[in-house]
Amino acid sequence: MSRNRWTRRRTPSTLAERTGRASRLTARGAATPLYFRVMSDPELSGTLAEIRSVIAARQRAGGWSHPVRIVAVTKGHGAEAVRAAAAAGLDAVGENRVQEALGKQEACADLAVEWHLIGTLQRNKARHVVGRFALIHSIDRLDLAEELDRRIGDAPRQGVLVQVNCSDEPQKGGVEPEQLEPLLAGMRPLQRLDVRGLMTMAAFTDREVEQRRAFARLHDLRERLQSVGYPLPELSMGMSGDFGVAVEAGATIVRLGTVLFGARE
Ligand SMILES: Cc1ncc(COP(=O)(O)O)c(C=O)c1O
Repeated sequence: MSRNRWTRRRTPSTLAERTGRASRLTARGAATPLYFRVMSDPELSGTLAEIRSVIAARQRAGGWSHPVRIVAVTKGHGAEAVRAAAAAGLDAVGENRVQEALGKQEACADLAVEWHLIGTLQRNKARHVVGRFALIHSIDRLDLAEELDRRIGDAPRQGVLVQVNCSDEPQKGGVEPEQLEPLLAGMRPLQRLDVRGLMTMAAFTDREVEQRRAFARLHDLRERLQSVGYPLPELSMGMSGDFGVAVEAGATIVRLGTVLFGARE
């Protein structure tokens, strides 16, 4: 049977399986249409409860008590994933690609969910995102920030995070840590942007020591910048394979896709 974009890999049945790296989620079952699986997925609420208890335990381990928000990453899944997330009580969904997000926003206009843009934003797409996303996680260049600010016009202020490359992997997006303060200083006059914090992605590795290093780096950068007058309350860090480590390091937002909805095609 040919597999189209609605087919999927076997649904991982335990949290441990779901939090495994994609390479471990390779067993293939029958090709099941995604909309069928998501709509009838009795596991999502249970999985969420498990995730919340991992978050609580990791917060205790890190000595934190602030709220941690879960952004359900629906990239690569259909609008039904957004509906399933909302039905399970999640109030924020994250998308990587602007066009895919806009399509789902239209299909889910009846839902009271916040939309977050978590993927790289091209400067020439800035005009398409104005007024569409509660939070853009991926600002990493001044020209992009300026273009966004200009395009906002009379629309309400746009919440943004600055993405920082804390993993030393050149292919990862984000401003280099040493360029962060100059970027924030350059963004200060951009009154239509509400800079709420920082975002990072750890290297794609199972090695907790490396994940921890990246997240600690973002946290330390935030502390230093707070001491010179940048509030930056939000730290968006942690995905399916490393959210526990991120929460322990002080994450306020985790972005979870695979662990909630299974592997993407
Ligand atoms: C920036 C970002 N955050 C989070 C995620 C979610 O990753 P995962 O499926 O490992 O939870 C993705 C997925 O592509 C992403 O690009």
